Amino acid sequence: MKRTMIFTVLFAVALIFVVGCERKVTNEITQTNGFTGADQCMTCHNDTDGRLLQAQGEWANSIHASGNNIDYTNRDFPSDCVKCHDHEGFVDWITTDTIHPPYENVSAIGCFTCHAPHTNGDFRLRADGPYTLANAVVFDHESGNLCVNCHHSRSNVVTEVVDNKSVSTRFGPHHGPQGEMIEGTGGYQYSGYTYTSSGHASSVRGACVGCHMGNQQAHDGYKIGGHSFNMVDEETGANLVKWCDDCHSKATSYDFIADTVIAVYDFDKNGTVEGYQTEFRGMLDSLARVLYARGLLTRTISGTDTTYSGKSSTVADKGIVGAIWNWSTLNEDRSEGIHNFKYAKDLIWSSINYVNTH
Ligand code: HEC
Ligand code: HEC
Ligand code: HEC
Ligand code: HEC
Ligand code: HEC
Ligand code: HEC
Repeated sequence: MKRTMIFTVLFAVALIFVVGCERKVTNEITQTNGFTGADQCMTCHNDTDGRLLQAQGEWANSIHASGNNIDYTNRDFPSDCVKCHDHEGFVDWITTDTIHPPYENVSAIGCFTCHAPHTNGDFRLRADGPYTLANAVVFDHESGNLCVNCHHSRSNVVTEVVDNKSVSTRFGPHHGPQGEMIEGTGGYQYSGYTYTSSGHASSVRGACVGCHMGNQQAHDGYKIGGHSFNMVDEETGANLVKWCDDCHSKATSYDFIADTVIAVYDFDKNGTVEGYQTEFRGMLDSLARVLYARGLLTRTISGTDTTYSGKSSTVADKGIVGAIWNWSTLNEDRSEGIHNFKYAKDLIWSSINYVNTH
């Protein structure tokens, strides 16, 4: 209904241009969304609004637009997947705090998921209030709050990590615990350890946005930054590392080496100081190995690749359950230690020490 009306108006506008009267849009149409004249449509719908064209160009390269997991409305009913995996579910959830599937005219995540331009007349975000994570810690970092509505752990470490836990192959936070990692929370923290944090939450604009949407590269075919949300162009390898350089002068790749090459930066203790992401992988692999040795992870080896995945069992000691949780969280975070290197390092080594001594 609404769509038909909008199209009618747009058609009228198009017609006016076609007949050639400069930019004289005189018809006075009052719409339910508050717009009173077709001329107001032109603040966004003209061929010269670079912002819109840029956003559309970048968006076309976003996994949000092309991934296999962006339209679940009719796939997993009545589960809660629709809250984050498609447009109608998300908008319903953030508006009413619950979901009411099935929805009519279902659609994938798109511009109208994060913005409501036809209601607001501008590009303010639909949701940018603080988001309370599953473990009750509040994430509050401007525009990053929008991302964390979806990019957070779906389960609570406090209630999941308990004695005599029946651990399934899917045990862990679900995909996307980036909100927790940036905040420096959501891991299983052992008593007697101090957990530190790398500070991107407060130093980077909008906690996610400054990195993932920063530094658009229009000349690069809109493949990285901006509304592509990509940090790397998978085809060319182009990345946004120039921007990290503002704060890390030695950064020439995301896998950069610490300022001073001294033994203390050999975080994975393999005898060589390497880039942060390589050190992270070394550490996470060490944790996977001790869990594998205890029969808690499955390991599949193909070629030179070593991949671990969860294994079903009942685990008596919650400290061991916590180590599996930490492995899963860091594996699902997918930044290879970049989001919060210090927290990752502390979680890994405290987990390894616990497993080795219990
Ligand atoms: C604040 C900016 C803004 C204003 C003002 C605006 N639009 Fe839009 N409109 C958008 C955006 C963004 C899209 C989505 C573009 C995309 O999908 O790439 C859109 C999409 C559309 C579509 C495509 C169908 C759809 O719903 O997805 C139509 C038709 C449309 N607008 C008509 C209008 C009309 C008519 C007006 C004036 C009454 C108007 N718009 C005012 C930003 C705006
Ligand atoms: C409506 C929920 C939702 C919001 C809001 C959201 N995302 Fe996502 N995001 C997803 C889903 C779902 C996927 C996985 C899509 C797929 O794999 O098909 C995803 C994928 C991604 C990816 C790509 C991961 C890959 O596989 O390469 C990045 C990067 C990302 N999001 C960053 C962000 C950032 C930054 C924000 C905030 C500006 C944000 N997202 C907001 C739901 C959301
Ligand atoms: C709280 C929001 C949220 C809910 C609810 C949610 N997901 Fe996701 N899911 C995400 C985000 C965010 C990503 C992308 C994470 C990333 O790329 O790191 C994702 C990614 C995925 C992926 C892609 C994994 C991959 O490795 O590429 C699958 C599959 C998936 N979700 C399935 C589901 C199913 C099935 C449900 C319902 C049972 C569900 N999700 C519920 C937020 C959610
Ligand atoms: C996953 C959420 C998400 C989606 C989907 C999304 N945007 Fe955005 N958009 C944002 C965020 C976050 C910002 C703020 C970026 C910043 O602060 O740098 C933004 C900013 C913008 C701006 C700049 C506003 C200004 O005042 O400068 C425009 C224009 C825009 N978006 C258009 C679009 C269009 C067009 C689409 C669809 C092609 C779209 N957006 C889809 C999250 C999203
Ligand atoms: C300091 C900059 C920075 C901040 C802040 C940041 N990210 Fe990332 N993110 C990265 C880098 C770098 C990667 C890994 C890129 C690589 O090596 O492939 C990454 C990876 C990811 C991935 C996996 C994408 C992929 O292609 O593998 C997702 C999803 C993601 N980040 C979402 C977020 C969300 C959501 C936030 C905010 C809660 C956030 N990021 C904050 C830099 C950042
Ligand atoms: C706005 C400033 C800022 C930007 C931009 C930034 N970082 Fe950081 N980063 C920090 C701060 C602050 C710390 C914490 C330093 C500390 O705790 O001593 C940090 C810590 C780190 C660490 C952990 C090592 C350490 O020195 O603590 C890594 C790795 C890292 N950042 C990678 C990146 C990457 C990769 C990018 C670009 C995608 C990036 N950062 C962009 C501010 C920034």
